[in-house]
Amino acid sequence: MNLEGRNFLKLLDYTPEEILYLVDLAAMLKEKKKKGERMDVLRGKNIALIFEKTSTRTRCSFEVAAHDLGMGTTYLEPAASQIGKKESTADTARVLGRMYEGIEYRGFEQTIVEELAEYAKVPVWNGLTNEFHPTQMLADLLTIREHFGKIKGIRIVYMGDARYNMANSWMVTCAKMGMHLTLCSNKKYFPDPALIAQCEEIAKENGGTITLTEDPVEGTKNQDVVYTDVWVSMGEPDEAWEERIRDLTPYKVDAAVMERAGEHAVFMHCLPAFHDLKTKIGAEKGAQFGFDELEVTDEVFESEASIVFDEAENRMHTIKAVIAATLGAKFE
Ligand code: CP
Ligand code: NVA
Repeated sequence: MNLEGRNFLKLLDYTPEEILYLVDLAAMLKEKKKKGERMDVLRGKNIALIFEKTSTRTRCSFEVAAHDLGMGTTYLEPAASQIGKKESTADTARVLGRMYEGIEYRGFEQTIVEELAEYAKVPVWNGLTNEFHPTQMLADLLTIREHFGKIKGIRIVYMGDARYNMANSWMVTCAKMGMHLTLCSNKKYFPDPALIAQCEEIAKENGGTITLTEDPVEGTKNQDVVYTDVWVSMGEPDEAWEERIRDLTPYKVDAAVMERAGEHAVFMHCLPAFHDLKTKIGAEKGAQFGFDELEVTDEVFESEASIVFDEAENRMHTIKAVIAATLGAKFE
């Protein structure tokens, strides 16, 4: 498998075999790291990390992964660069492409990361857009495989805001990997019908299924993975909170949901999560709207079934695999 020179913008661009290859490579790199083996085979190379939205996991994963591979990194935050204010995406891509071997972008529309890739002439990696979060998907697949020993055939219910980056990404992932996805939400939050149709076609080829339901009881029965995300995503207006809480509260992940899913079921979340009020925004919104926990209860988040921190760790190993594969790293 040779992915050298490829962009990593969305999983729609990758075959199931290529996706599996990246998960396998990540597992190999994770083992190498645990054994304390050196892997700095990309010494002398540098990558740029553009973040137009905030991040803990994705930024740290790119930085640690790059350093483990022997590379240098430059972090560009919105306030500290010209991007989008004084310089266009195309010009930025052509400048950074002359200095760096790869560019990560986290921000708004998918069209921006696609445009960066068109002009940069070096691999561009999507660290989250409004539409997709493909590096998160690789981490989730690795975590699921570590837990269940397989990917194909796994049943996953995604609860909550099903019209944004995480649910879109899960549709593509399940379609490609032959998994069974239930999107469980108020139909106001169902994904773009064109993307649903596209994913249903892909799912047919790979033995996957996509089900949409508004019924939180039926939707959560007999599942392997219960997955959720925040109800208001980065970059969305503050006014969205009230309506989201009203519309999505029936889709909160609580102990009853986990019980219906089954004894073997795990809880996953891309994080960060509002499972208590120990954050500035959580405390502020909790006081305003009268809640203690939002998309998931603290009980489920802290339970044995929750594998969210394995998932968070795997962000680093899988992002390392993407960097290594697209920059042509060769390991012993
Ligand atoms: N899951 C995720 O992308 O986390 P960050 O926003 O912290 O990068
Ligand atoms: N939907 C969330 C995902 C965060 C990892 C957001 O876009 O803010």
